[in-house]
Amino acid sequence: MATPSVTADGRLRALADGSQMPMLGLGIWQVPNGPEAVRAVRWALELGYRHIDTAQAYGNEESAGQALRESGLPREEVFITTKFYPARKDPAAEAEQSLRRLGVDEVDLYIVHWPKGGPSWAWAGMERARELGYARSIGVSNFDVGELELVMAAASVAPVVDQVQFSPFEHRRALLAACEQSGVALEAYSPLGTGRHVSHEAVARVAERVGRTAAQVLLRWCIQQGVPVIPKSTHRERIEENAQIFDFALSDEDMAQLAALDRTGGTDRALERKWW
Ligand SMILES: NC(=O)c1ccc[n+]([C@@H]2O[C@H](COP(=O)([O-])OP(=O)(O)OC[C@H]3O[C@@H](n4cnc5c(N)ncnc54)[C@H](OP(=O)(O)O)[C@@H]3O)[C@@H](O)[C@H]2O)c1
Repeated sequence: MATPSVTADGRLRALADGSQMPMLGLGIWQVPNGPEAVRAVRWALELGYRHIDTAQAYGNEESAGQALRESGLPREEVFITTKFYPARKDPAAEAEQSLRRLGVDEVDLYIVHWPKGGPSWAWAGMERARELGYARSIGVSNFDVGELELVMAAASVAPVVDQVQFSPFEHRRALLAACEQSGVALEAYSPLGTGRHVSHEAVARVAERVGRTAAQVLLRWCIQQGVPVIPKSTHRERIEENAQIFDFALSDEDMAQLAALDRTGGTDRALERKWW
């Protein structure tokens, strides 16, 4: 397997199109547009996050944009991902609306949220969004190996990211290997199992051994494999805790013990149960 290219400080991952993606981002799924989302993103930016993950379907792009402006950070210092809502028809037209809501000229990454209606129909529109300068990089989400192959066969510009559910419990080894082989960065969504995995006994044991929290161990397990993570929290102390993952390492044994928690059988699939 090709080794993912991560900077020496472990904070940035090179994408196949030459861009760089911060290994840690704040996810804001299920955070309502408004003060709660603005606060979470403001805190994250204050605490050193430089990557925000939103989506057209989340309805909170305005808040992400507002927090970015209020932070006073230069636009180019923050990596913004949004996702094409595939119930719509035209990825380029929808990207334009996202830019208006976010209040930015381009997003850093624009991905097809899920392969609704098949993996390839939206791709020409994604490429158009990139050509028009609406998105620096384009990719997909919730695509399994077969779906990635189909979109790549149809592509002039290949997807550089596949954002999927990934954690020790959802260790999609075959999907990860196929992504690395074809120059696609697998990005982990729900790295804490939407909160469920932080209370697992086996994770707690590793956490105790290394003197870290369960959330930090789950996140470190991903980034130590070159997999970027986008944990969600609306609590300042947890947002801070989730960022303290660059100053310790898990041993090979810890990594293997966590990997043994996999419930997917090392699958090449993106999800066990599709919601579309
Ligand atoms: N592409 C897709 O289809 C897709 C699907 C799902 C998710 N995503 C993205 O991935 C992001 C993360 O996934 P997720 O939202 O499913 O969940 P997650 O990040 O795996 O877990 C978030 C949950 O864990 C809690 N939590 C966060 N930090 C914690 C800590 N240090 N200790 C204990 N609990 C903690 C949060 O609670 P509080 O907020 O109350 O602190 C929240 O309930 C999403 O927000 C979204 O951006 C993408």
